[in-house]
Amino acid sequence: MPPWLIHLKSAQRKEPRNGSSRWVQLATIATDNTPRVRTVVFRGWSEFYEMEIFTDKRSQKYQELNLNNKVEICWLFSKAKCQFRLRGKSRFDVSKDNARYWDQLTEYSKSMWNWPCPGEKYINNKNNDDSDLKIDVMSKNFSLLKIEFDYVDQLILTKPTHHRKRWIRKEEWIEERINP
Ligand SMILES: Cc1cc2nc3c(=O)[nH]c(=O)nc-3n(C[C@H](O)[C@H](O)[C@H](O)COP(=O)(O)O)c2cc1C
Repeated sequence: MPPWLIHLKSAQRKEPRNGSSRWVQLATIATDNTPRVRTVVFRGWSEFYEMEIFTDKRSQKYQELNLNNKVEICWLFSKAKCQFRLRGKSRFDVSKDNARYWDQLTEYSKSMWNWPCPGEKYINNKNNDDSDLKIDVMSKNFSLLKIEFDYVDQLILTKPTHHRKRWIRKEEWIEERINP
C-alpha cells in the first residue's frame, strides 16, 4: 500500500458514512488547454491502488482524458480538516471489472447511462429518454476510469500551525514535510 493511503484512510474513517464523504473533485485539461473540474463519486481502490470512478463515455471528460490523461483529484475530509490533492494518470479500464461494477449498480443508477447525451441541449421529448429501458446488459456508455497517482499532497489544518506533507513517486515513494 502506498504510504499516503494510510493517512487518507485514517481521515476517511472520521467522516460520516454518507454519500458526500465519497465526493471528490476531478480536474482535467480540456481540448482548448484550459482547466475543467467537476465532482465525481469515489468508487474504491483497485488491487494496484488506482482510484476508481464511473463515468459516461459521452461526457466531455471522456474526450478530454483520451487526449490528455493527466488529472488531479482534490478530496476534502471536513471532520479531519484535511485536504488531499492527488496527481496522476488515468486510463479507461476495459477489463471484466466493468461488468462486475455494472452488476452492483441499482436499477436507477443503471438507467442514468441511458439518459440523453450529457451536456447537450435539453429537449422536452419523452422519446429522447431511454431511462425506462430494462437494462440487463451493460450500457455501451458506461465507463470505469482508473487513476494511478505519482504525487500526493496532504494539508491538515492543525493548530497553532498547519501541517503539510507530500509524497512523490520515484522508484519508491518519497515523503517530505513542506511548509503549509
Ligand atoms: C455529487 C455529485 C456526484 C457526481 N458523480 C459523478 C460521477 O461519479 N461520475 C460522473 O461522470 N459524473 C458525476 N457527477 C456529474 C459531474 O459533476 C459532471 O456534471 C458530469 O460528469 C459532466 O462533466 P463533464 O462535462 O466535465 O464530463 C456528479 C455530480 C455531483 C453533483
